[in-house]
Amino acid sequence: MEFFIDSADVEAIKELGDFLPIDGVTTNPTIITKSGKDPLEVLGQISELLSDDQKLFAQVVATDYEGILAEGRRICSLRERNMFVKVPVSRTGLKAIATLKEEGLGVLATGIYSPEQAFWAAKAGADYLAPYLNRMCNYGDGVGQVVDLIETMAIYGFDAKVCAASFKNVEQVHALLVAGVPSITVAPEVIRSMVDHPGTGIAVDEFTANWQASYGRAAFEA
Ligand code: G3P
Repeated sequence: MEFFIDSADVEAIKELGDFLPIDGVTTNPTIITKSGKDPLEVLGQISELLSDDQKLFAQVVATDYEGILAEGRRICSLRERNMFVKVPVSRTGLKAIATLKEEGLGVLATGIYSPEQAFWAAKAGADYLAPYLNRMCNYGDGVGQVVDLIETMAIYGFDAKVCAASFKNVEQVHALLVAGVPSITVAPEVIRSMVDHPGTGIAVDEFTANWQASYGRAAFEA
């Protein structure tokens, strides 16, 4: 199971990567613009924070076939390995995904709003399929559709991994983890909510206070 941070905020990636075993970082054009930095500069900074085994994803901006191919090749050349290009699943995007895969590049099909779009991206050879869960919920049963997608990939034995994206809260993440989502990308603020619970702090304070009262120290041994 792979868990990615969906962000180009270098400080947030540093903060979370320091104590969580994350598998890499995903970005999209909007996320890159929010960094306020030059795209190549910020991708370079994120790459420096990652080990060679952790994955980095960046998205094409071009919407024409040749443009997507050129940007896809450029993006994948940014690292020796584990660099993936994200391509939206338009008609042109599906065609470009097949070509980029023929060239042996790592591809994530993005902007997915239905299991059927994802099915075609899997047929085109995409390594990852990114359904936009929260946005899908605006049109109906987003969770149910992503669960259907996970099952469809298993039924046909596709290699493509669902990489669920677009989460607004922990409840949405929970629903997909329970469903066995093979990979997921989540924004820093939602990851923090997954990890931090006030009850844990209250429990730890209580343990420390009781230890202090009994043994006069806040450590196991003197
Ligand atoms: O990276 C793609 C996806 O996570 C977009 O999320 O929050 O813009 O719906 P959002």
